[in-house]
Amino acid sequence: MADWEPELYHRFRRYRAEPVDLIFSRMRFARGAGERIVDLGCGTGEHTIELARRSGGRARGIDSSPAMIEKADELRAQLDPELRARVEFVRVDIRDFSASGEYMAIFSNAALQWLGDHRGIFAACFKALAAGGEIAIQMPANERETAQATIAAMAADAPWRDRLGGAATPSRENVAPPETYREILAGLGFAEIDCFYYTFAHPMGSPAEVVEWSRATALRPFLNRLPSEAHDEFVNDLTRRLETAYGASGPLTFNFRRLFIFARRPAI
Ligand SMILES: C[S@@+](CC[C@H](N)C(=O)[O-])C[C@H]1O[C@@H](n2cnc3c(N)ncnc32)[C@H](O)[C@@H]1O
Repeated sequence: MADWEPELYHRFRRYRAEPVDLIFSRMRFARGAGERIVDLGCGTGEHTIELARRSGGRARGIDSSPAMIEKADELRAQLDPELRARVEFVRVDIRDFSASGEYMAIFSNAALQWLGDHRGIFAACFKALAAGGEIAIQMPANERETAQATIAAMAADAPWRDRLGGAATPSRENVAPPETYREILAGLGFAEIDCFYYTFAHPMGSPAEVVEWSRATALRPFLNRLPSEAHDEFVNDLTRRLETAYGASGPLTFNFRRLFIFARRPAI
């Protein structure tokens, strides 16, 4: 699969920050220098750094993308020495994440939707947490919104069906409803479980901007299956279909539903 494109992902940075603000507002920081936090799928590392800054402790960002880790390391190099010493980035697949009772918080924003076996990941998280430690997780769950519904319909249509071989958006493929996560987490022994959807409203200039937003993320499984010379044809077809589906070629509100998951390993 082609590597991530950090610049493209950051084009809508302002809107992508909104769910992170919600997560930060609910996390319990300020445990000081002893705090250890891991950021699963850290991307370019801004949130990992913020976790270290807010907690006063150490934060480790892990990500499987060489391009993302390279950017994160560049950002780390610009930090003042005291903060820099409390942040590290490592290239690791989340599926290989394993630790034993060492973290007070496990954070993950917009990453776990790319993986299956969420029960296995949450089991690894439970084991990795110290008593009283928390998970704070967000995954997009926007498969019912016009853009993703249109992408799914288009992928099932000729001529794309044969060329895309059953590609699906990550939310459709991997993200379950909140009640499933409540059950999984309770079964693993988590307490203070809170799983809910929250829909953000993002003003966009046109359907083409929604396509641009999606190119960095939800469209990746589709574009990765097509040769690069077919990307423009795919994007133009999708833009036309979205203009019809939204009934607009100018400004519109792009609603984006996200799933939030908070829980705690019980204090002994
Ligand atoms: C949409 S980006 C989110 C990045 C960052 N958490 C943020 O909020 O800006 C998803 C990230 O998940 C990472 N990712 C996807 N699958 C992964 C895996 N199996 N192991 C580690 N990282 C993964 C990607 O490389 C990418 O950096």
